[in-house]
Amino acid sequence: MKLFEPLAIKGMVLPNRVMVPAMVTRLADEEGWVTQDILDRYVRYAEGEVGLIVVEAMAIHQSKSGPLLRISDDKFIPGLAELTKRVHDTSASKVVPQIIHFMKISKSGWRQTVDMLSLDDIDLIVEQFGDAVRRAREAGFDGAELHSAHAYTLSSFLSRRNARKDEYGGTLEGRLRLIGRVMENVRRKVGDDFPVGIRIVADEFIKDGYTTSESKLIALRLAQLGFDFLSLSVGGKFEDAIHQPGHILVPYSGYSGDRCMPGNWYPNGLHANLAGEIKSFLNAKGCAIPVAGAGKLSDPVEAERVLADGSMDFVGIARGLLADPDWVKKVRNGQADRLIHCDYCNVCKHLDGTHKKVICFLWPRPGLQAPADDPAAAAPAWGADRGGLVASVEGGSAVLKWTAAAGAERYDVYRADDEGEVKVEDAVKSARWIDNEIIAGMRYRYYVRACGPTGQASPPSNSVVIEPTLPDYRAAPVAAAAV
Ligand SMILES: Cc1cc2nc3c(=O)[nH]c(=O)nc-3n(C[C@H](O)[C@H](O)[C@H](O)COP(=O)(O)O)c2cc1C
Repeated sequence: MKLFEPLAIKGMVLPNRVMVPAMVTRLADEEGWVTQDILDRYVRYAEGEVGLIVVEAMAIHQSKSGPLLRISDDKFIPGLAELTKRVHDTSASKVVPQIIHFMKISKSGWRQTVDMLSLDDIDLIVEQFGDAVRRAREAGFDGAELHSAHAYTLSSFLSRRNARKDEYGGTLEGRLRLIGRVMENVRRKVGDDFPVGIRIVADEFIKDGYTTSESKLIALRLAQLGFDFLSLSVGGKFEDAIHQPGHILVPYSGYSGDRCMPGNWYPNGLHANLAGEIKSFLNAKGCAIPVAGAGKLSDPVEAERVLADGSMDFVGIARGLLADPDWVKKVRNGQADRLIHCDYCNVCKHLDGTHKKVICFLWPRPGLQAPADDPAAAAPAWGADRGGLVASVEGGSAVLKWTAAAGAERYDVYRADDEGEVKVEDAVKSARWIDNEIIAGMRYRYYVRACGPTGQASPPSNSVVIEPTLPDYRAAPVAAAAV
């Protein structure tokens, strides 16, 4: 499989093509130090042999932002060095930090925008990025990734909504000026041999935001600037964020936030085509910079497809690897059947947005980390009724109920529409599930599997089929008017 071919990014050789993109964990402390929980979280990905581990966004400056890692001072190097050592001692996984600068926000809903930054502020940002990448190298990271995606400073300069009137705004060249200066400074401070990648959004998904018409040109410039890999995300902007009175603005609360961390109502692999468009443009211009994308790519068949069809050189799987850090090992060893399938419920997104410790809803409780893998563990067993699954149509819903299985941590609910492909629809902790997305004219077949804490799944329960009928649209009879 393409997924398990190594990939050389300058001197950094990924053992496979699976990346866990940056995911803020809120496991740092308020001052930004590496904690034991942070070490445990990233060692867990290394145990799972993830090809490239991108450590959550860490700030190059001291601006407050709750529990967020920092790389803003040399004093943070020893903690980060411990992190890289622990990862390298665990497996051949490579590890890079995501390096971020963000602007100020307040609970009133006010936020600083790029046009409020002075030229001195910009000079400082240029220096801070260079110093941060230098610290990353000293801490033993295999490379670094600059965060130029979503609602943060570098991305806001690239944005079509950049409102600056000087040489840092206006034209596309103007919007690219800051990143050009940053990369020049980074190279001056770490040299040419240290792998430095960048994350941008392929589409801002906001009104008047940029789309692939411009992101492919931005990508071309980033390749020309000497970035060593390009990681593509989408959306996640402040411009359409929904402000809750008394709370700071969360950039993932609007439509562009939905696109960034697409929930269970979006199709799998929904942004792979954007990566494919950008990558083929770059290749046509003679640039071979490795490209990764993200967005619901945790189905192994889908992940392999986007590599095989050339949309990407490596795949970003964020929530899927949070749910199951052993994804790589399980798929490589032919144990995809034991995967803990992310159901894209976005509990993790919500925890991040409220500055609470980020965990996966599917893990056993309580626990701050995914359970250790145990390939020898027995799968939960159904009773004699094979789960006793029953389904009824109530109103516009299918209501499924089954008998709890001994040893089950959760249940994966499978559905096939019109006897087509079977898909995992959801993962639930109780022995009941309601499907609100059914319609007359379709035939739905369901079954359930009971899953243990590290993914062992029981055989399928008995199957049930429903065929909803057209609702009765006739108006209720009007009672005869009283005379
Ligand atoms: C809890 C959480 C935290 C995230 N933090 C970051 C971050 O620090 N930097 C970043 O670029 N993206 C961040 N993301 C976005 C992911 O890297 C990824 O692009 C997104 O979740 C879509 O990929 P997926 O469908 O595989 O989860 C975060 C996502 C989640 C769910």
